[in-house]
Amino acid sequence: MTWRRLLCVGEAMIELAPLGGARYQRGFAGDTFNTAWHMAQVLGGQAEVGFVTTVGEDTISDAFVKELASDGLLADVVSRTADRTMGLYLIELDGVERSFHYWRSVSAARAIADDLAQLRQSLSEADLIHLSGITIAILTPAARETLLEALGAARAEGAQISFDPNYRPALWNGVQEVRDVLPGFMASADILLPSFDDEQNVWEDASPEATLGRLEALCTGEIIVKDGAGPVCASIGGDRSVHPTRKSEDLRDTTGAGDAFNAGYLAARALGIETRGAVQAAQELAALVLQYPGARADNRMLGPSLLGLQ
Ligand SMILES: Nc1ncnc2c1ncn2[C@@H]1O[C@H](COP(=O)(O)OP(=O)(O)O)[C@@H](O)[C@H]1O
Ligand SMILES: [Mg+2]
Repeated sequence: MTWRRLLCVGEAMIELAPLGGARYQRGFAGDTFNTAWHMAQVLGGQAEVGFVTTVGEDTISDAFVKELASDGLLADVVSRTADRTMGLYLIELDGVERSFHYWRSVSAARAIADDLAQLRQSLSEADLIHLSGITIAILTPAARETLLEALGAARAEGAQISFDPNYRPALWNGVQEVRDVLPGFMASADILLPSFDDEQNVWEDASPEATLGRLEALCTGEIIVKDGAGPVCASIGGDRSVHPTRKSEDLRDTTGAGDAFNAGYLAARALGIETRGAVQAAQELAALVLQYPGARADNRMLGPSLLGLQ
């Protein structure tokens, strides 16, 4: 099995990261975008990687599309809307403590699933579609239904669906909404990539094994539970395994570790690598991102050889 076309769906925001005083550096980030970006760097020309989103028709949106294309991602799965622009967040540093301020409530990405025909067109021909709980949280209830329908159609045409619940309380109207909405998406996924702390917060799971048990009842495919520095627990068609995590030698910033993990896992699976090797690739990529400030590793450090993915 190999996947030739891998798509991530969600929101990328303009990122303002502090340089000291009132100076900031502008970047672009967002959970599923970070995953798409790392997959593209690691896979090189071995597969097409695209980020399905909606941006504006303004110059900052142009800059985003230009940057992603020059970093090797497909540009033609990005749609445009004239009425809105990209969301933005600013990172504030107080010593080593980071806090985040968001301006994303009317972002263009919230229109991703407004038009079923367009979304189906963007997702067509995909071998893998990856999305997250954040992708769903930013949509209206009607748009969530549209997304579910488009995913169902893609799946019927042969795409595998991958899902990271990535719980962000500020994006939901209470935990009950998450409990009502997410299981429908998880039940239509082939690969689940949750983090234990998120699952514990929403479902009160007692342990990563309890998370696996709960999710096995929803998804008969691949379930990989991340747990920070703790071991990774996997269940593949009900066959469980535990994969210790190496202690980080140079931990600078945990931002984006889970997104990079997902990228390593999915990139390895795209090449047909089985569970143990794919988890190892995921852990390697996450460990690398921990060494860099922000959500991405330096792309000079990335490439197929890093993960043994030649
Ligand atoms: N403190 C840590 N030490 C070593 N590895 C870590 C640490 N935090 C995260 N990782 C790596 O990143 C992966 C994802 O981390 P996790 O914190 O579970 O996800 P998220 O970033 O989504 O919260 C882990 O499985 C592990 O490989
Ligand atoms: Mg996460």
